[in-house]
Amino acid sequence: QVTTEAPPEVNPAASTGQTVSKEVTILYGSQSGNAKGLADHAGKTLEGQGFQVTVSSMSDFKQNNLKKVQNLLIVVSTHGEGDPPDNALSFHEFLHGRRAPKLDGLRFSVLALGDSSYEFFCETGKEFDKRLEELGGERIVPRVDCDLDFDEPAAEWLDSVLTALSESQAAGSVAAPASAPTAAAGETVYSRTNPFHAEVLENLNLNGRGSNKETRHLEISLEGSGLTYQPGDALGIYPQNDPKLVDELIQALNWNPDEKVTINKQGEVSSLRDAFTSHFEITVLTKPLIEKTAQLTGIDALQELMAAENGEKLKNYIEGRDLLDLVKDFGPFSVSPQEFVDLLRKMPARLYSIASSISANPDEVHLTIGAVRYNSNGRDRSGVCSVLCAERLEPGDTLPVYIQHNQNFKLPENTDAPVIMVGPGTGIAPFRSFLQEREEAGASGKSWLFFGDQHFVTDFLYQTEFQKWLKDGVLTKMDVAFSRDSNEKVYVQHRMLEHSKELYEWLQEGAVLYICGDEKNMAHDVHNTLIEILEKEGNMSREKAEAYVADMQQQKRYQRDVY
Ligand code: 2AM
Repeated sequence: QVTTEAPPEVNPAASTGQTVSKEVTILYGSQSGNAKGLADHAGKTLEGQGFQVTVSSMSDFKQNNLKKVQNLLIVVSTHGEGDPPDNALSFHEFLHGRRAPKLDGLRFSVLALGDSSYEFFCETGKEFDKRLEELGGERIVPRVDCDLDFDEPAAEWLDSVLTALSESQAAGSVAAPASAPTAAAGETVYSRTNPFHAEVLENLNLNGRGSNKETRHLEISLEGSGLTYQPGDALGIYPQNDPKLVDELIQALNWNPDEKVTINKQGEVSSLRDAFTSHFEITVLTKPLIEKTAQLTGIDALQELMAAENGEKLKNYIEGRDLLDLVKDFGPFSVSPQEFVDLLRKMPARLYSIASSISANPDEVHLTIGAVRYNSNGRDRSGVCSVLCAERLEPGDTLPVYIQHNQNFKLPENTDAPVIMVGPGTGIAPFRSFLQEREEAGASGKSWLFFGDQHFVTDFLYQTEFQKWLKDGVLTKMDVAFSRDSNEKVYVQHRMLEHSKELYEWLQEGAVLYICGDEKNMAHDVHNTLIEILEKEGNMSREKAEAYVADMQQQKRYQRDVY
């Protein structure tokens, strides 16, 4: 294996006339599963065109084989504050390290997923794209950065990749397909792009009277859909915006709610009211949206806000504001409803970790959804989907849903393996699914749950169920941390530290450690506590402890479902 110690040189001009391989390797880095879905779809499409395709998660790919790859497609999302997804970490580090191989002769293209309401939009995709070029690779087609509504740009990227690959094929070989259709013909199953309208069976508040929180327990019927899922998977829901907010927005714009607008490239038409209710996002401002609005309306104050020297000001303005603020602060907009609607992001689906096992609840899926309500910039605001569920959804109503499989959060195949589950707040959801599944399967492995919330009396989600599992031995150990029942804050990681010796023993026995819930604070602190426990109980240096965790991650013994 040839590696280079020196910083790699930039590739000279593209080589032409060489034999073009029919082999394509598609690597994905995916947190919630969208990048994986797109990678799988690209794989099938390319295969249908006669290419020999390997699709793999970056973490499963043998890095030493990279030098043998001739056509590489990367599909990668960006996570948190510009971070790679967990299953892209090791490959990202490998490529950026000093031992990264020279990749002269590699042809590549990157499809980057992200969310333009975050500062480091598509950062990980940009990094891979830049680095592959630095290492000597040559682009098949330029990188495409996708926002939350990635379907159309992703399809365009795949089309252009196919065309480029087929053209180079045609130059060097016999049969090459003339056109490159990307849509799978005759889609018969329900999916993200063809959701199932599922009936709500049950909708309860799990918190007791007087709680600061409202956590909904939803039971949804999948009957007749053919949909199925595994513990760790998520349910995608397409929500509707609050009708009051929609009305206020249309009023502020001074438009007719019944005016017809075209809502997609297929030319589908709906009323403005329906467009704002079901088809477009109206509760988030993004930099690209403000930029396009400034261009379209020509409003001076908006162009001023966009000016380069006002970066901080723009960031502060966007934070906690929505379309209604934009219109009130900078309107009226003398543009047509169609022109304005064309600037908006499509309504993105919300993903919720599934809280049930389908073997324990045939044809059903359960969710645990925390209602998001807050006040910012002088107005009460709410999370679109969570408050729809809390306030406007009754048994008998339907929701457009689909299953998002999650390869990054799975029970071990070996039912003897011990599992440690850390899930405060709504992070409990997948662990209810895990235990239901383990109970059904009669799994013999040990299990240990760390749960936390504010108050024991009002916030112990699914208390009786977990206590029963503990009594029956389905759950071996349970430690809880109620943060606001005493003067000092007690969090799940404090409980982990109190039991550090035993926790370390479980890890040494091969336990899989799962974390689910808030990423920014909780998952980060729990991660650091894990390192601390390894240092203390395993007599490791910090470096060694970090390597131990990276190793666990590689072996899929450290899995996170965080948001
Ligand atoms: P708090 O609201 O009292 O701060 C579920 O939301 C539980 O997670 C709550 O008890 C919450 O406590 C707690 N929590 C908040 N920040 C946390 C952190 N950094 N690590 C672990 N738990 C945290």
